[in-house]
Parts: sequence; C-alpha cells; structure tokens
Amino acid sequence: MGKINCIGILTSGGDAPGMNAAIRAVTRAGIAAGLKVKGIYRGYEGLINNEIRDFTTEDVSNIIQRGGTILKTARSKEFMTPEGRKKAYDNMVEQGVDALVVIGGNGSLAGARIFAEEFDVPCIGLPGTIDNDLSGTDSTIGYDTTLNTIVQCVDKIRDTATSHERIFFIEVMGRDAGFLAQNSAIASGAEAAIIPEDSTNADQLEQFISRGIRKSKSSSMVIVSESPKCGAMYYADRVKTEYPEFDVRVSILGHLQRGGSPSASDRILASRLGVGAINALREGQRNVMIGIRNDEVVYVPFCNAIKSDKPIKKELINVLGILSI
Ligand code: F6P
Repeated sequence: MGKINCIGILTSGGDAPGMNAAIRAVTRAGIAAGLKVKGIYRGYEGLINNEIRDFTTEDVSNIIQRGGTILKTARSKEFMTPEGRKKAYDNMVEQGVDALVVIGGNGSLAGARIFAEEFDVPCIGLPGTIDNDLSGTDSTIGYDTTLNTIVQCVDKIRDTATSHERIFFIEVMGRDAGFLAQNSAIASGAEAAIIPEDSTNADQLEQFISRGIRKSKSSSMVIVSESPKCGAMYYADRVKTEYPEFDVRVSILGHLQRGGSPSASDRILASRLGVGAINALREGQRNVMIGIRNDEVVYVPFCNAIKSDKPIKKELINVLGILSI
C-alpha cells in the first residue's frame, strides 16, 4: 500500500457515548493533515453495501455532545465471511479509500485485524465500547459515561429500596467483563457486585447475605453483571427460595446504559484518541489500536488489544468488600 490520501471512518458493534466525539476528532484531524475523509455508514455492513460519502468539517459540527453515532452502527454477519470482506475491499478501492479508522469494541477490532491481514489495508482502531474490555488502554470511549448513568440509576433505586426495606438485584451490561458492575457498585455504595472475573468465589451470594443483610441492614443493593445463566433474575430467585423472609426485587437497566450525552472525560478521551489515530497513520503505523495508558497515547497491536483478558484489580474487589460491612 502506498501513500495515504484518503481515509474512511466507521463505527461498529454496540454504540457508545463519545463515538460522535471520536468521529469528529478523526475527521477534523484528518482534514487538518491534508487528507480526504469519508464516512462509512452502518459499520462494515456499509462498507460492503458501499454506503460511503465524503465528510467535511461541517458534517461533524455540533456532535461532540451527542450520544449514539451519526454514522449508525451494525454487527455485520457478512463481514465475517471472506466473500463479504472481498466486497468491502472492492468498494474501498473504488472509493479511493486508502486506510480505515474503525471505532468499536472487541469484535469490531478483531474484524479490522483480519481485514488488514487479508488485503494489506492499513487499519487503525479506536476503543469504542461501554464494556471497557479492551486491553492496553486504561479506559474505552463510553465507559465513563455509562458508569455514571448506572450510578445515577442505582441512587434512585436505593430510595425505593430503603423505603420498602428491600433487596434489589440490579443487572448491568458489560458482556463478559465486570468493570461496569464492580466500579458502579463501589461508586453507589452497593453492598456487593457479582462479576464474571470473581466466579471462582463459589458462593458470593451466601457471603453477602451473611455479612451484610443478616447483620444490620434492612435494604441492600447488589449489582450483577449480565449473564445468560446467572444474571440478576437467577440470584433474586435463589434469595426468594432460600431466604423467604426477604423482600426481593430485580431491575435490569438494559439499553438505557448505552444512551445519553457523553461525559467530559469520554469527550476528551475520544478527542485525544481521534487525533492520535491520524498521528499514527502519518507515522506509518498500521493495525494498531490507539489507547491511553498513564495519560500517554499508546499504540497497541490489534492482537494485544483484543485478548479479552483485561484484569479487574483485586484491590477493587477488596475495597467494595471492606466498605460494604
Ligand atoms: O458491547 C456492548 C454491549 O452493550 C454489551 O455490554 C452487551 O452485552 C451488548 O452490547 C448488547 O448488545 P445488543 O445491543 O446487540 O443487544
């Protein structure tokens, strides 16, 4: 691949607050660097269907504060096939797009990695997911906003839990990662978090019941990471059966967690990462995710970013345990 004159931007997978700020940053930094910028609609699906159009600085005006993504997003099944990726590549060539900036989570960056390898196309990833499950970056675009949204919801639920002296199991998103559950539990003063990373702790529920509610508390909040088998409903049903003396309710926060105006932190993160993406391309980087670690912009090879083994610090688990006595 020769000199890069034109880049395409897409958002893919679950939307996350701050994606628009990232689109704005990549577009403006790209134009400032003398590049032509094209917006690709509906993620990889739009690349396959040639939903691509020129972007100017005006196209990204007045979006830094908006949730969702102006480029729309999708989880493309067709892009998972070699035939789909070939169509996507042919459209890139026809449109004169020399490099891609992909804003998305684990699956989206895994797609970029395969595409880059198959067709020798420079791809840069930006971590855009509420789950915070990409390695090599301290935070992902959308995580901080979602954390704050969850905490606001838990604060409200606590009012009714206290009034009725109930135990609430509140289910939050995070796919296979417990960052949202663990940190929202700390920030909202919840009694416990049930997260996949701590699943070796055989009976987290039993521990919480005996340590917390049995002693002094008349109401409790437990934040549970989503899970097909062991979500909030599972734990609530168990308590209803095993401890019928407690009044139990469930609240599944669902997709409201993904919406809303991005926090200042997410806007700044997205802006820095977007400018970082253009700098990386100008430096000849390819097939890396841009991250921020210890307040420095870093380039993380796709294979390291998508490893899905970003650990939750034991210290965070201890903090919640100590403070919820
Ligand atoms: O990856 C972001 C995320 O919101 C996860 O936390 C959640 O498991 C998933 O997407 C939900 O996806 P969908 O919007 O397709 O139901």
